[in-house]
Amino acid sequence: MSSEPATPDNSTTARQSTDARGSASTAAGSSETSGVEIVFNDVVKSYPGQDIPAVDHLSLTIPAGEIVTFVGLSGSGKTTSLKMINRLIEPTSGAITIGGRDTRDLNPDKLRTQIGYVIQGGSLFPHMTVADNIAVVPRLLNWKKGRINKRIDELLKLVGLDPAEYRERYPKELSGGQQQRVGVARGLAADPPVLLMDEPFGAVDPITRARLQDELLAVQATLRKTMVIVTHDIDEAIKLGDRILVMKDHGHIAQYDTAERILANPADEFVADFVGRDSALKQLSLQTLASIQLEQAATVHAGDPVHAALQEARHQKRDQVVVLDDNDRPVDWLWTTNLRGKVVHARPGRQPILLTRDVTLDTVLDTLVTSMHEGAVVIDDAGHLLGIATFDQITQHVRDINARAAKTRAEKERVAEEADARAEAAEKVAAAQAGHGEPEEASK
Ligand SMILES: Nc1ncnc2c1ncn2[C@@H]1O[C@H](COP(=O)(O)OP(=O)(O)O)[C@@H](O)[C@H]1O
Ligand SMILES: [Mg+2]
Repeated sequence: MSSEPATPDNSTTARQSTDARGSASTAAGSSETSGVEIVFNDVVKSYPGQDIPAVDHLSLTIPAGEIVTFVGLSGSGKTTSLKMINRLIEPTSGAITIGGRDTRDLNPDKLRTQIGYVIQGGSLFPHMTVADNIAVVPRLLNWKKGRINKRIDELLKLVGLDPAEYRERYPKELSGGQQQRVGVARGLAADPPVLLMDEPFGAVDPITRARLQDELLAVQATLRKTMVIVTHDIDEAIKLGDRILVMKDHGHIAQYDTAERILANPADEFVADFVGRDSALKQLSLQTLASIQLEQAATVHAGDPVHAALQEARHQKRDQVVVLDDNDRPVDWLWTTNLRGKVVHARPGRQPILLTRDVTLDTVLDTLVTSMHEGAVVIDDAGHLLGIATFDQITQHVRDINARAAKTRAEKERVAEEADARAEAAEKVAAAQAGHGEPEEASK
């Protein structure tokens, strides 16, 4: 949300154990409480009158400091699973531990002061100001007034709202996106190690939604909370989740893995359908230019003789040359047919598209499609040339991803068919041995 991290608050709730990532990020000057591990151990929830439990034997580890997204169809048990973490719903059987402690051993009210909870629309109290909404949990924890006020300002800045302007407003005086931001601030108020969010950005328009997602990721980069986010939107799950749990009916895990692995290798047809047929494009959003073998460019310096540039292009078997300035930074990308006169000039205002290797491939494609350039010049952080990535290379990369996915699917189908055939054969043998006579087909 803002680029400045929240001011550390040294006297918040008891320090929780942190994982390596958590302590590394907190070392950067912030002493925010980082996330703790959450474990579901054979958890069942049966609502009255249900034949099959809403959540049927769920076992799962959510690593400390990570974002796990629960994604699945409506009614699959996502919300029920989430609410069992803060005991808004009590499991029928099984146990949930947070930071190694069984939640059944904790007072539910106290537990909920240590777990932020954000739901759709922010669910702010309409009769309370923004400041009072954020202060709810700190007041329950008897924080001193000065500390609460400081925390409110800190959090509003963190979620990108100017405290002076927004503190005293009422929820109805805010846009949907702003209400949602205040909801996130309220969830983080007492610096809990765990933040639960249920369809948090479901009520805002797609552009605001994308911005809120980006801001949440920026906040998480400094805070390293353990976050569990329920969504029915696979794109949101992929964007936000370090890991994604694809849930089938009754809280069954269809697949629980990183987005990369789920997209590249869906566990079954259900997951493949759910992540969608355009999974190659989704994979592009997870890969950067670092995964592309860059092509080597022909290079020339501005002011070099044209004949030398032509020779270099021939030598590199290229139709284009990258023109470098005195500091070896690319300033133009010229077709050899445009090399005229005696010396090479970079054309003013014609700088090629310059990208660093951390740019995701979907952004590269978007950039190239809208620019009409047939490639991009890739540079390092100092602006020096690394190589060229062409439009053809990226589209070939998409085709490769698709081909690999098709191969994996075909291989899975083959394995499944073989297993079916083996099972059938075994059945026939068993039937024969049991003295039930020859199986039908064999008797023909
Ligand atoms: N309070 C409740 N009482 C009875 N049944 C419920 C209750 N809450 C949810 N259910 C049922 O449990 C199942 C899982 O619901 P839920 O956890 O809300 O799914 P999701 O969040 O994935 O849409 C559904 O069949 C739903 O109808
Ligand atoms: Mg739900």
